[in-house]
Amino acid sequence: MIKIHFITPFKDMVHAVIGESILKIAEKKKLTQYFVHDLFEYADPPHYRIDDYPFGGGAGMVMKPEPLFRIFDEILDDGISGKQTRVIFPTPDGKTLNQEMSDELSKCEQLIFINGHYKGIDQRVRDNLVTDEISIGDYVLTGGELPALIIADTVIRRIPGVINTFESAETDSFSGNLLDHPHFTRPEKYRGMTTPEILLSGHHRKIAEWKLAKQVEKTKIRRPDLYKKYLDLTKTEK
Ligand code: ADE
Repeated sequence: MIKIHFITPFKDMVHAVIGESILKIAEKKKLTQYFVHDLFEYADPPHYRIDDYPFGGGAGMVMKPEPLFRIFDEILDDGISGKQTRVIFPTPDGKTLNQEMSDELSKCEQLIFINGHYKGIDQRVRDNLVTDEISIGDYVLTGGELPALIIADTVIRRIPGVINTFESAETDSFSGNLLDHPHFTRPEKYRGMTTPEILLSGHHRKIAEWKLAKQVEKTKIRRPDLYKKYLDLTKTEK
């Protein structure tokens, strides 16, 4: 079972997502266990401040190091420090997330997400606690909860048993460097719109060929970068 921690000043936002749908089912199936740590509980009284002005000046506030270090003392004191733990800080200046990174993280025993806010977190936290700085794309969000939950979601669905048919994750977009093919379901004909004949033929080999051709076609048009990787890989396989 993978333990997933979220350190956040907005715990309700995290609970709202982990308490629904597949993430919740994964926990019920005992494939994941979630821990949400309220950053304010680790701040100093009487004001419980979690941020402060940046040394050297500049715009925006910086998240203070003490509450974060205290939470880590507690989490790692739990006797789980020896297991494979990764500490993830979602940040726009991190390495851009991809499927390969999610797959690798899904094999860990423990993930700890630090959800940043304001201008960022004290660099000493990044230097001493964080193992992975990950961006979810070239745009800026208001806080770390959504990117942390997105990263966690991509990781959790790759854990064997989380999605009913593991095959359904194996045939996702990006596996084999190809985007997904189109999908159709009943009714066969709807408002004059039809389903490709081949999918109704029951001819497994031809259906597989059609799906692959559609994947290649879409990838070539939408993602020339991925298409090149696919071609290079198929060449070496041959
Ligand atoms: N925090 C704010 N913007 C972000 C992004 N693009 N990726 C990860 N974390 C972020």
